[in-house]
Amino acid sequence: MALAAARARALRALSPPHPLGQVLVAARRRCSEAGAPGALPPGGYRAWQEQAARDPAGFWADLARGWLRWDSPFHTACQPGRPAGTARWFLGGRLNVSVNCLDQHVEKSPNRVALIWERDEPGTAVHVTYRELLDLTCRLANTLKKYGIQKGDKVAIYMPVSPLSVASMLACARIGAVHSVVFAGFSAESLAGRIVDSGCKAVITYNQGVRGGRIIELKRTVDEAVKNCPSIKHVFVAQRTDNKVQMGDCDIPLEEEMTKAASVCTPESMDSEDMLFMLYTSGSTGKPKGIVHTQAGYLLYAALTHKYVFDYQQGDVFGCVADIGWITGHSYVVYGPLCNGATSVLFESTPLYPDPGRYWEVVQRLKINQFYAAPTAIRLLLNYGEEWVKKYDRSSLKTLGSVGEPINKEAWQWFYQVVGEGRCTLVDTWWQTETGGICIAPRPSEEKAEIVPAMAMRPFFGIVPVLMDENGKVIEGNDVSGALCIAQPWPGMARTIYGDHQRFVDVYFRAYPGYYFTGDGAYRTKQGYYQITGRTDDVINISGHRLGTAEIEDAMADHPEVPETAVIGYPHKIKGEGAFAFVVLKEQVAHVDRVKEELKTIVASKIAKYAVPDHILVVKRLPKTRSGKIMRRLLRKVVTEQSNNMGDVTTLDDPSVVKEILDAYQKYKEKSSS
Ligand code: PRX
Repeated sequence: MALAAARARALRALSPPHPLGQVLVAARRRCSEAGAPGALPPGGYRAWQEQAARDPAGFWADLARGWLRWDSPFHTACQPGRPAGTARWFLGGRLNVSVNCLDQHVEKSPNRVALIWERDEPGTAVHVTYRELLDLTCRLANTLKKYGIQKGDKVAIYMPVSPLSVASMLACARIGAVHSVVFAGFSAESLAGRIVDSGCKAVITYNQGVRGGRIIELKRTVDEAVKNCPSIKHVFVAQRTDNKVQMGDCDIPLEEEMTKAASVCTPESMDSEDMLFMLYTSGSTGKPKGIVHTQAGYLLYAALTHKYVFDYQQGDVFGCVADIGWITGHSYVVYGPLCNGATSVLFESTPLYPDPGRYWEVVQRLKINQFYAAPTAIRLLLNYGEEWVKKYDRSSLKTLGSVGEPINKEAWQWFYQVVGEGRCTLVDTWWQTETGGICIAPRPSEEKAEIVPAMAMRPFFGIVPVLMDENGKVIEGNDVSGALCIAQPWPGMARTIYGDHQRFVDVYFRAYPGYYFTGDGAYRTKQGYYQITGRTDDVINISGHRLGTAEIEDAMADHPEVPETAVIGYPHKIKGEGAFAFVVLKEQVAHVDRVKEELKTIVASKIAKYAVPDHILVVKRLPKTRSGKIMRRLLRKVVTEQSNNMGDVTTLDDPSVVKEILDAYQKYKEKSSS
């Protein structure tokens, strides 16, 4: 019923009806003839949205036939799954993702630039053509095969962005292996946990990384990690610097092997629903989960959103500054742009190196047309003033994009007015590791209607957002808030959590049966636009990096003198959110400051540096309900200084704990500011 209502609402918003058959056939013809995506047809957004809501299977089938190169066609576009809300796409179809991202472009334009590697050292960009990237990919694929990696095997990639990192992902895709890219800022223990969970047979890494002028000891971290990973047979080591690192028995010098390998590698023909990659992300409980994406549906969705949300035109230089360790890097540095034959920038450095003008100097030098970044970087840069921006020519810019966390109005305005000179489209894009690609964003819009600042606004084709109330009922009408769910499956959505399908069902489809639950809350404005209000669970977002507070608590629990902790997110001016930890110590602990430092070290070594709490406050006890549950809600009120509005505290085991914690917080604040 509710699904029908949501669809009906989506349809009502669309008028007048459009001759869709013609629109879709035209789009298909245009992209297959040109081998490249074309412009959205007139009336496109409304017409496509109407078709997608009315006949999702037919809508996606048409696009999949036109956009992707198939080895053999699919017989069924969409097969609804169990539980309701899940689906499998393009059944019976076979294709190879690397062929779609490389070979099809090499046939037509071998010398088109696929990647521009903007290395850490300013002014040392490396251009890689589609032909060169195919060559690298095939040599790497043959090297993996030589060392026994086969279809279905899992390969961890622990590398920052570079052409070889992209080739590593595509090499896995070419031979049907499954990659698991682990952000190169994660600790050895985090890397090991992910390798063990997915049973990776090999790791691909660099001797060292270089970022912001500093050396990062990648190989050393991998060495430490693989000590505890019996599944690892080989570690492939590429050279980012000239420095020698120790090579052990299972270590293989990657470039050396690649020069010996053949530059042609027959692509494995993959089923649409075979696994393409897994990517670990945090949830509100337990360890990070390996989100699984499959071949055809993911690729189609990444490519379409890349094209239409950013209005990518052939020849444009697309600059997404995300790392490949996150989903943004997968979808909008690698798969979306390369499937569309785009030129994609790989940004290895930081926004502040060698100075706060780095992004804009790169925009000028590489003539970037679309620039996609996280709000945290924008908030950081706006503190340094406009001169750093205005020093450089940004006339190439057409579209600006924001991703990963809510963008506040001040940052939005600065991005729009100062960086974009008030003439570029700025799209705030909402999506998740699980959604595969952008789900809510102001574009595409053939109307070029005004964009509301700091708002994701409108669903992409085929996305049917709904808001739910506390009783699990769909909230109708506008000017309402609720839990954000998506009512209809789309090809880019994750298929499972690796090794734990039940957890997948429980986390995403149990709270609101038949709907995908995002974990976010949203407000639907009077005009029917969507504004994301943030997570409704214990997931926090530090500088756009998603993290479960439970992970930090678990890490700190390793300290022998710390029996109990509770971590919450609190608003942070630059990072968006920071972690605030409340800890209870054993009574006899004398060196509180030493313990705090040890706790920080533990979190950095068990997770990553960015996860280290900004504040650690020692309290005598935590606020607990009579059944022993920690009331984090109260702790949030304390650190956001809303103690006059604590809400219902009657379920607390001992309500006097509130005053105790408030006093401790006041003392801590006074001490920190003195
Ligand atoms: O809370 C939302 C926030 O980031 C979460 C997803 O994180 P992750 O899987 O790491 O993917 C990040 C990159 C797509 C979401 O549940 N989020 C993402 N984009 C936005 C956002 N919050 C507000 N506005 C956004 N545009």
